[in-house]
Amino acid sequence: MPGTVGHVPEKTADPSPPELFTKEFADDPYPAYAWLREHSPVHRTTLPSGVEAWLVTRYADARQALADGRLSKNPAHHSGSARAKGKTGIPGERGADLMTHLLNIDPPDHTRLRRLVSKAFTPRRVAAFEPRVRELTDRLIDGFAARGEADLIHEFAFPLPIYAICDLLGVPREDQDDFRDWAGMMMRHSGPGGDRAPRGGVGRSVRKMRDYLAELIHRKRAALGPVARPGEDLISGLIRASDHGEHLTEGEAAAMAFILLFAGFETTVNLIGNGMYALLRQPGPRERLQRSLAAGETELLATGVEELLRYDGPVELATWRYASEPAVIGGQRIAAGDPVLVVLAAADRDPARFTDPDTLDLSRTDNPHLGYGHGIHYCLGAPLARLEARTALATLLRRLPDLRLAADPAELRWRGGLIMRGLRTLPVEFAPVPVPDP
Ligand code: HEM
Repeated sequence: MPGTVGHVPEKTADPSPPELFTKEFADDPYPAYAWLREHSPVHRTTLPSGVEAWLVTRYADARQALADGRLSKNPAHHSGSARAKGKTGIPGERGADLMTHLLNIDPPDHTRLRRLVSKAFTPRRVAAFEPRVRELTDRLIDGFAARGEADLIHEFAFPLPIYAICDLLGVPREDQDDFRDWAGMMMRHSGPGGDRAPRGGVGRSVRKMRDYLAELIHRKRAALGPVARPGEDLISGLIRASDHGEHLTEGEAAAMAFILLFAGFETTVNLIGNGMYALLRQPGPRERLQRSLAAGETELLATGVEELLRYDGPVELATWRYASEPAVIGGQRIAAGDPVLVVLAAADRDPARFTDPDTLDLSRTDNPHLGYGHGIHYCLGAPLARLEARTALATLLRRLPDLRLAADPAELRWRGGLIMRGLRTLPVEFAPVPVPDP
């Protein structure tokens, strides 16, 4: 007998389901998600790739599905076509032998790897990194502050997380621009139309990143002394991490470094980009946040970043899951092998869980959003993402207090990738600010 996840809703047939995955949908998916939540909360659809999948859109169902052990992360459980197999949302990874990473495996392998990485990637390590994030943020703003205009995606939100994670991992500064280029190629992959990556470019970039990380890990392992040095980088921490005598192999450490880079990069770009965009369009919440920052308070910044994640978060759908056995989700029977996509963006606007879900309320405290996922795959990088987003938004608003949008919102283009939600550009203007000589 299939188990039941969530309640069984009453079906109200509506003859006109919204069209998904169009440009209009990419610009503003929330009306379509409201329709799905109401009329077809567990909805079978054909994705742009041709793969058939279920979309779970209600908060209660989404939360339970994310924690349901029968929904496997292992693509081997997918009953679909060979073309669809191995989909995890990471472009080019199949060709690069990076498949054994946290977002692609189930317990007990997941438990073992997560325990090992958690020994190295600790909240303490992230907290110690704060001065460097502040310095990076200021340096990026210095790059455009005197000009009076900028594209906040390309000049700010995009480079900040890539340099931050490279620094944290221990990628030497002189090599970090290569990562910036490879990551840029991977981001160009997402979304229909416009700024597409050249054919083969994404796979090549992923392979170059993989090869670089494998070589770096090899060199660092050879150079490691018997005792940890204070301030040792995260890659050295990953190599050293041990649990009951077990260590990561070099291959596992390379896949781990890659997933930290990949999972922590475009997500953070989009949190800063979507967050700043929401603040630029809503002067009320933004001025309140500026006043609170000027008074030296940090509470509104902290609740505000969580609210921006809920309101227009960077991860529209959680990464892929596959039913490892028949299941019932929200009253809908799911066959073994079917892909299930949990729509975090829809769940986080569910009026059954959030008061006034379409209102941006930076002081919202009852906010158990699913922006970082839920259950055993809950985001490992949440402390780093919070640190970067809080620093980025607070520093921008403090240093460029009259920041305003320099484009008609209707002309801004969203990437429209399946998993991520983010703007391609975010043009802004402000009174130029002199920048101190370096
Ligand atoms: C997992 C969101 C930043 C590393 C996840 C998941 C979500 C998420 C929704 C769960 C996916 C699923 O269940 O299918 C975000 C958001 C971020 C962010 C919104 C920024 C705003 C980061 C950063 C890092 C990171 C900065 C690391 C440097 C990871 C890893 C996992 C993960 C390793 C997999 C955990 C596991 O499977 O056990 N993230 N993430 N993330 N995230 Fe993040």
